[in-house]
Amino acid sequence: MLGGIPHHYDAIIIGGGAAGMMAAGVAGQRGKKVLLIEHTDTLGEKIRISGGGRCNFTNLNVTPQNFLSQNPHFCKSALAQYTQHDFIKLVDYYGILWHEKTLGQLFCDDSSQQIIDMLIAEMDKGNVDISLSTKVTSIAPSNDSFVINNNLRCNKLVIATGGLSIPKIGATPFGYDVAKQFGLRIVPTEAALVPLTFDSDVLLRTKPLSGLSAPDSVVSCGSTSFREGLLFTHKGLSGPSILQISSYWSKTDNIRINFVPDADVFAALKSARAAKDKSMLHNALAAFIPKRLAEMICTEADIDGSLADLSDEKLKMIAKYAHDWRITPSGSEGYRTAEVTRGGVDTRDLSSKTMEALNVPGLYFIGEVVDVTGWLGGYNFQWAWSSGYVAGQSI
Ligand code: FDA
Repeated sequence: MLGGIPHHYDAIIIGGGAAGMMAAGVAGQRGKKVLLIEHTDTLGEKIRISGGGRCNFTNLNVTPQNFLSQNPHFCKSALAQYTQHDFIKLVDYYGILWHEKTLGQLFCDDSSQQIIDMLIAEMDKGNVDISLSTKVTSIAPSNDSFVINNNLRCNKLVIATGGLSIPKIGATPFGYDVAKQFGLRIVPTEAALVPLTFDSDVLLRTKPLSGLSAPDSVVSCGSTSFREGLLFTHKGLSGPSILQISSYWSKTDNIRINFVPDADVFAALKSARAAKDKSMLHNALAAFIPKRLAEMICTEADIDGSLADLSDEKLKMIAKYAHDWRITPSGSEGYRTAEVTRGGVDTRDLSSKTMEALNVPGLYFIGEVVDVTGWLGGYNFQWAWSSGYVAGQSI
């Protein structure tokens, strides 16, 4: 024994977040002797701050299509073995009240702390030992086991240390370093579900719009589009559609915004002109979009004046700006504000059924550290629950 902690465990799980706690509870309840190691002094800090304190814990509409990965099929097995409905059953079993906010997103009625308490109760049921404020300084393979910090031994080692977002609450590159130590490949990581930023030239044009939201806009990058609302900020763009598209955006890509997806702006302006409407163009446009945005678009297009004096060509051009405004962000706000990290441990090196490393028996990677990234809306927690569950069943 070491300070009350036995030396030998069936499984040691490093990382006391969503995936780690899930895996620990499942394995413990299967009778495995489990130790969960967390380097901060709290469990589930990201759960606590998630969903504005109410944790968007899953989504009714989870499908593999809601996840990004170099291998889009990898997530299928875990998501099928432990579905959103399984997690909802668990939440219901603990009497946690929840509601659907929008687009299938489920939130606690009361507090995200209830989800943390539920996972701790599940670990208690499985007699899981928990070691907080504990730094792992070494992992050494030894026969068919792993030796941690020279004094703890385990047959199975699960890495659940998450991604790089929000370092101030505990995110570290630890999981990627362990993967590299054991020869697993890493898909380059990038901040995702993150606000996008503009360079100073673009900001000069868009800063007057800071704080303005365009809730019906469709935001696209390549062939992917989201219609969940956007917000101009003093640094660039944010809001759900932008966070979503950020996961598909790479530096130098432009994004396209249709501010008026439900109307034909050219046809509407043309018929207003035919009806002898003498409004200024920016006022006519303001029938469709916020006035400040209409003014910005007219300035950008360098077209304004009375509708009566504008040619079809000019109306067409302004309609193009309203339906297909193109902008190239210069970057993102980075890991400081990103909700997740895309990329991570390469799924080619993991079993999709158990999350065990294919070439390192007994070593597992679960949750966000793996190259599986969900959309905004409860998908990332579902990946943590599903991948944690399948590893918990296997260790
Ligand atoms: P997670 O980050 O939860 O846990 C990793 C744990 O490992 C942490 O406790 C960390 O301290 C610990 N750790 C790191 N390095 C270590 C080391 N060297 N040694 C020991 N421990 C170490 N998703 C969603 O589906 N719905 C939502 O509402 C939200 N909301 C949200 C808000 C905000 C602000 C953020 C930043 C993120 C979200 N997310 C989300 C994303 C979600 O929180 C995230 O995908 C999951 O928490 C990932 O679970 P993991 O267990 O993989 O990592």
